[in-house]
Amino acid sequence: MEVIPLHPLFAAELTGADLVAEPSPELVETVEAAMARYGVLVVRDAAISDEQHKRFSRAFGPLELPSRVPGAARPIGKRAVDPALFYAGNLDQDGEIIPYGAEGSRLAQGAERFHTDSSFHAMPTKWSLLLGHETPPVEAGGDTLFVDARAAYDDLPQATRAQIEDLVGIHDFWEGRRRAGLQGEITPEMRRVIPFDRVEHPLVRTMPYGRKALYVGGHCIGVAGMDADAGGELVERLYAHATQDKYVFRHHWRRHDLVIWDNRCTMHAATPLLSNDYRRDMRRTTINESGPETSAYEWMGLAAT
Ligand code: SIN
Repeated sequence: MEVIPLHPLFAAELTGADLVAEPSPELVETVEAAMARYGVLVVRDAAISDEQHKRFSRAFGPLELPSRVPGAARPIGKRAVDPALFYAGNLDQDGEIIPYGAEGSRLAQGAERFHTDSSFHAMPTKWSLLLGHETPPVEAGGDTLFVDARAAYDDLPQATRAQIEDLVGIHDFWEGRRRAGLQGEITPEMRRVIPFDRVEHPLVRTMPYGRKALYVGGHCIGVAGMDADAGGELVERLYAHATQDKYVFRHHWRRHDLVIWDNRCTMHAATPLLSNDYRRDMRRTTINESGPETSAYEWMGLAAT
């Protein structure tokens, strides 16, 4: 196996890995070490099934299962895949293409603002592993952008680092979507279907290997104990700093690419599809640092409320 850097700051490609077989201790060790160094890891030609995708993911932590509120329709009318996988493609429940910008794709377009998966709930998130089962040609768009939030933190002036060191960010799924361009009122029904609001996480996260990272992805809307405007402005300022081009790596998808990213120290953003002629079938596992294999809805006790 070889780990080849793809960007001056972070992101690498792993070659020579077998993801079809049971993950070997050597593979697990190589991936853990590469993720600690690079934060984003691309594996090409990973022609694996949903079962193999889940098995590989579980070698690094328990799966976060998608939250499904009993009785609620799937919020975006998208393809139903294995219940342990998140769906990030452009296909509907009949496998037909949902045109970019149509009703069924608008909520997902919120992912075009840089964010970290799962920051809108309280589980101890670790990585996401997104597999391209069907991908459009490069000229049709649909790239994914990544930010190194560790390098962005390192480059902050010392005074700003001291100012934010102990601050706590407020994360809210629907308010985050509003900032990403979702129009209209946030209704009680929307809050019922995706019931995560005002969850708190530190603005600065310390990684297990000691580096610090800004944690201000798109679901972060303010700062605990600060006036809403002042907190929102601080978050926007840090977000603008972290998303400068110099911190961004662009991934052009090929079929069977598996891209792994660390949600604790990177942000990512989808980019628009420029054509409705192509299928983009993307399936994601997300794993936690520890804990039972369950959904945030269950883990946060929301099922009982
Ligand atoms: C995501 O934001 O999790 C998906 C990114 C993508 O589909 O490009």
